[in-house]
Amino acid sequence: MARRKKVYEGKAKILYEGPEPGTLVQYFKDDATAGNGAKKDVIDGKGVLNNRLSEFFMTGLQSIGIPTHFIRRLNMREQLIRHVEIIPLEVIVRNFAAGSMAKRLGMEEGTVLPRPIVEFSYKNDELGDPLVPEEYIIAFGWATQQDLDDIVSLALRVNDFLSGVMHGVGIKLVDFKIEVGRIWENDYPRLVVADEISPDSCRLWDVETGTKLDKDVFRRDLGSLSDAYTEVARRLGVLPSNV
Ligand code: C5P
Repeated sequence: MARRKKVYEGKAKILYEGPEPGTLVQYFKDDATAGNGAKKDVIDGKGVLNNRLSEFFMTGLQSIGIPTHFIRRLNMREQLIRHVEIIPLEVIVRNFAAGSMAKRLGMEEGTVLPRPIVEFSYKNDELGDPLVPEEYIIAFGWATQQDLDDIVSLALRVNDFLSGVMHGVGIKLVDFKIEVGRIWENDYPRLVVADEISPDSCRLWDVETGTKLDKDVFRRDLGSLSDAYTEVARRLGVLPSNV
């Protein structure tokens, strides 16, 4: 593809100007980071796997009527997406206690939650994405109450879909993060799932063995991250031929 103008570079992805107005090209890097950049490595093939997996999840969501920013995959590492106005929140859905929730509340990882719980972090690397209550979000104007109601129902629909798909291949969806963007249509905002959905942003445990198949393998030095992601892609039938 011709040289394109870089719009934004994050820890795991780069956004370039897209071929048509209102579009961007999202490039998946092999870089892995944890602890907000404190731990870094390059995992050969991770970008290729996440590009495929995110395509798989986003097209699946679209097929059941959940709007996303995804347009089409362009090649091994790039996908064409809609340019959206990102709401500066990390929207986290938890089915089982793990990670920061388990730590904060002193819960054992894997404890089943009474119902899926949606929480919000303010998307800000310098601050380490702090957990924020809805009051802050509305008072600071990051989103309206209506947006938040819509985001919660969107996140729960994504959870139902992803949990079902993963359960079908013997994987428990412990928790995940999505980002949500606004697209303006006739002066009316529409919320869509944005960014990526991949084992970088989900906790995925084998139903039988409890083996971790997500970024915790890297965060906690549990073995090969690319083997874990390859296993997820293999089970879902989206293994690229050359990784
Ligand atoms: O660390 P914590 O338990 O809060 O993470 C909850 C979920 O959100 C995990 O699946 C994690 O991978 C994801 N997450 C993410 N990006 C962040 C923080 C959390 O994808 N910056």
